[in-house]
This record gives sequence, C-alpha cells and structure tokens, in this order.
Amino acid sequence: MNTDAAKKVAGEAAAYLAIQGQHVGLGTGSTTAYTLAALGRRIKEEGLHITGVPTSSASERLARQHRIPLTTLDTLQHLDVAFDGADEVDPAGNLIKGRGAAHTREKVVAALARRFVVLVDESKHVAQLGTRTPVPVEVLPMAAGPVMRMLNGLGGEPALRVAVRKDGPVVTDQGFWIVDVHFNGISDPVALALALDRIPGVLDHGLFISMATDLITGRKDGSWDHHICQAVPDAR
Ligand code: A5P
Repeated sequence: MNTDAAKKVAGEAAAYLAIQGQHVGLGTGSTTAYTLAALGRRIKEEGLHITGVPTSSASERLARQHRIPLTTLDTLQHLDVAFDGADEVDPAGNLIKGRGAAHTREKVVAALARRFVVLVDESKHVAQLGTRTPVPVEVLPMAAGPVMRMLNGLGGEPALRVAVRKDGPVVTDQGFWIVDVHFNGISDPVALALALDRIPGVLDHGLFISMATDLITGRKDGSWDHHICQAVPDAR
C-alpha cells in the first residue's frame, strides 16, 4: 500500500462519522476527496441526508459531482462536524494546513464545527511543526512586500507561492496571494500564530492551534486509528 491508499483509508473512515440530518464542513485536498466520495455513496446507497458547506471552489465542485447537497454559512449557527486534511500534525494536535491554499475558508468552517475531524496518513505526524512544511500565509497582494519583511522579522524565510501552469503568483479563491514561510521548526506555535494574526494585510495563515477534536490516521498497511484530541467544547 502507498501513501494514497493510507489517505483513502482515513478519508473513507471519516465519512462514517456523519449521521442523519447533520450539517457537515467539507474540507479540501486529496484525503478529504475520499471522504466526499464516500459521503456521496452513502447518500446514494443508504439515503443519508446531510448538508455540506464546502471550504473551497475545488471542494464545492467535488461535492456537486458527488451530489452532496450544499448550503452556506449565512443561516447556520454552527456545523455538526467538519472533515479536513492537514500537512503536519504535532503531538498536541496542532496543525499546519494550506498546501492547497484553502486554509482561510477551512479555518472559518472548522471554527464553526462542534467536531473538527482531521484526516491524515501517518507521514503527516511530526514531533515539531514546521520542520518539513512551510506555513502558508494568505496576503493582500498590495501588502505582500511589507508582510514578507515582517515575516522575515519573525525568523521565517518567506517565499511567494508561484503558479505552476500560469505565470505569476497563485491567486486564492478570495483573490489574495500565498506566501509560504519556512521556519525550520516552530518551537512555540501558539505564539507564532498570535504574531501572524497581528500582521496587517494577512487574511489568515495555516497554523490551526487547538482546533482538532478528532484525528484519524491511515496507515500504509490499510489500518487506521481514531484519536480524540479534545472533548467537544460546549460553546461550539
Ligand atoms: C488545503 O489547502 C489543505 O489545507 C489541505 O487540507 C491539506 O494540504 C491536506 O491535503 P492532502 O489531504 O491533499 O494531503
């Protein structure tokens, strides 16, 4: 089995946590794509009735393909559950997300969900965040210069994310740009997240601190486990 098979195991296991009548956050990425496909099958074969809120134009398209009914956040007080992948997860359940540049909407949806279920393959587990993966920061294009200088001042090495099959920067669903910041290990993710929150011109960043309630890890041997990171908070 390869990494993709491990993602599939985790993604499909998550889909079985959704129950009748729930409002469900639909994450973005290759792992969550398996969840959306499995939710689509459950809708068709079991008559599961759920309503999804997508976290990107990509997950919206995928959800429509799988005939998952969609709604918006305009009238919802909260979501029952949100499913999403991650690029790194540390032993405390803190995350780096945003390889697909969808982390801003993903964070909005996760914050409104009673349960935020994170789906990873075993390669995503790290002892310390930021040793392998940069932190994606979504920036207002006119502020990219000053924001990058401030990121430098925080000890990071910022690099504008450049599109692969288009000249110029990656443009997000919001029309913003992405700066990937290499930190060579983040000793205090909470402090860094607060510092990033305070930079003018930053829409949001890919550090998700104390947000995951559940972590599903798929392994190459086809097994998976479900770890509870924190009790579901009453206020969510
Ligand atoms: C999207 O911007 C990301 O936050 C993804 O959820 C994250 O990168 C995980 O992606 P994969 O499931 O494709 O590894």
